Amino acid sequence: MKSIFDQASEAAALLSSKTSLRPRVGIILGSGLGEFANSVENATVVPYASIPHFPQSTVEGHHGRMVLGTVGGVAVAVMQGRVHAYEGYAMDEVTFPVRVLGLFGVRQLVVTNAAGGINRSYSPGSVVAIRDHINLTGTNAALGRNEARFGVLPNTGLRFFDMTVAYAPRLRDLAVREAAAQGWTMQSGVYLAVLGPSYETPAEIRAFHALGADLVGMSTVHEVIVARHMGLEVLGLSLVTNPAAGVTDEPLNHLEVMEVGVRAAKTFETLLTALVPQIANLNGGASPST
Ligand code: HPA
Repeated sequence: MKSIFDQASEAAALLSSKTSLRPRVGIILGSGLGEFANSVENATVVPYASIPHFPQSTVEGHHGRMVLGTVGGVAVAVMQGRVHAYEGYAMDEVTFPVRVLGLFGVRQLVVTNAAGGINRSYSPGSVVAIRDHINLTGTNAALGRNEARFGVLPNTGLRFFDMTVAYAPRLRDLAVREAAAQGWTMQSGVYLAVLGPSYETPAEIRAFHALGADLVGMSTVHEVIVARHMGLEVLGLSLVTNPAAGVTDEPLNHLEVMEVGVRAAKTFETLLTALVPQIANLNGGASPST
């Protein structure tokens, strides 16, 4: 069997063959947030099924396609849909797309998700910047033999790598400032990841609150771990779709999660559209669409 590195290289080569764009900004759209992909200009759509070795999502509300194009004149690689560990995928599969994006040339990754709000100051529809995470999924994306070739930047691809600044403060600052410019307040919070697919019990949510978590969800942390292994800079954004279990008396359901996504889509799209060029600018004036 080919190594994950060789598989990811093949997948990245496929993307390179589909477009002349060489995006440095990548975006992963979470549950109900896929709409943003439709606002990408000059789009080349590459279904996951046509990318070698790429995992296919089985969850409702998750498309499975890579959209390569521009946002505000800046090249982007947008993933409409991701796969999760709770679908039965191995860590290598869950994180494969991030490996591919990194090899394709992405250096700044925006990861988005739907999350339950543990922090009582959040309400459904709040968009929160992830400040840090707690990985309680019971596994780690970097498990297994270290593949140093994934370190696409100096001093990365290490066996043991730093997670002190997993979520780049300068990207978070941009997001908070842009939200303020658009007339709303973006809070920041700690995202706690569980394996799922069951939602949590109220006792678990009370425990997570005591641990310092503001948000709970079933994705993102493994992608971020792998992104940091490669040296990519990360912005994490959570859409709060529901109060976490026991925060209110309401039971949780996936439909509610999807509906809030639909309602928040416009806010999200406006935010990301304004943010992408600013993020790209931080690259030290990297050329807009190359
Ligand atoms: N828990 C876990 N994942 C979620 C939730 C939740 O309450 N809402 C959306 N994704």
